[in-house]
Amino acid sequence: MSRDLLVEIDGLNKHFPVRGGTVKAVQDVSFAIHRGETVGLVGESGSGKSTLGRLLLRLIEPTSGEITFDGQSVSGARARELRALRRRMQMIFQDPYASLNRYFTIERTLTEPLHLHGIGRNADERRRIAAEMLEKVGFGPEVLQRYPASFSGGQRQRIGICRALMLRPDLVVADEPVSALDVSVQAQVLNILGDLRAEMNLTMLFITHDLAVVRQIAHRVVVLYLGRVMEIGPVEAMFDCAAHPYTETLVAAAPSIDHVIRPAELVGEIPNPLSPPSGCPFRTRCAHAVSACASADMSLREIAPNRFTSCIRAAAPGAFGQAPGVQVPA
Ligand SMILES: Nc1ncnc2c1ncn2[C@@H]1O[C@H](COP(=O)(O)OP(=O)(O)O)[C@@H](O)[C@H]1O
Ligand code: SF4
Ligand SMILES: [Mg+2]
Repeated sequence: MSRDLLVEIDGLNKHFPVRGGTVKAVQDVSFAIHRGETVGLVGESGSGKSTLGRLLLRLIEPTSGEITFDGQSVSGARARELRALRRRMQMIFQDPYASLNRYFTIERTLTEPLHLHGIGRNADERRRIAAEMLEKVGFGPEVLQRYPASFSGGQRQRIGICRALMLRPDLVVADEPVSALDVSVQAQVLNILGDLRAEMNLTMLFITHDLAVVRQIAHRVVVLYLGRVMEIGPVEAMFDCAAHPYTETLVAAAPSIDHVIRPAELVGEIPNPLSPPSGCPFRTRCAHAVSACASADMSLREIAPNRFTSCIRAAAPGAFGQAPGVQVPA
């Protein structure tokens, strides 16, 4: 594995047995995250983003596939190794109020992980470490004695970020961290996260359904649909010119900062995950679908440098319907 890769995900699957069948929440997902890189994971609700994030930190067990973190197998780690790995991988949740214990002071919430991992000689030292980290998210030491209820949503998320960073992790999985916040507060929290990413050399998997947010924070984007990767590419290139019809419709549906009105529009509902379409799962909503899509192989192809797509009709980014060997109906 290359030295500059921190995370490698290879052939990952997660199936949930449910009443009436099996939900394949994550299907044959493979990608890597470089050190210091932020990968945005996007897709509509139900596309498998949270499941993938939880698999990465091994909060749930994969059905099959491999996850490697800094050269070490996450999927194969035993309890002791996993404990050491967990210190280096942290999660930021969408709802900080649900993820912060409302009966604990901020001091207790922030110092508990230090205590658990044997960091700091005594309570005074741990309090000092907590105060230092609080300063990085814009709070003074006086908030240590307060409880979560006395903070606004944005302030709570800053505390959630602070808690995730207490152990100075290498990797942060942020699952919709600003989705519950007002737009003005979103920008503030994203700025703090961006500054800390640089200062602490963080690697991030940033999960969001909001393309405007991903554009602000991500270097590269992985697009999921019904548990499968549709497209992977650098963020600006993807916004300029999608390499998959699903991405194109997501970009078109997103509020645009340049006010360009784009032609494509996302129609119809996400299919029932218990009975997804054969071949390309997007074919029931795709304006470019042809009969070959019903039996298409969904492995990713590189159609331009660093641009990967599962669409069999993508000949080049933005060019759908010209793939060689595919019959195009008149
Ligand atoms: N514990 C679970 N049991 C059964 N199905 C689940 C479970 N967790 C997630 N799912 C299903 O897996 C799919 C992906 O869910 P999720 O990862 O939460 O998507 P997202 O975060 O993109 O909205 C959905 O169809 C969801 O209903
Ligand atoms: S494979 Fe076919 S259905 Fe799927 S995105 Fe490409 S054109 Fe559309
Ligand atoms: Mg989710």
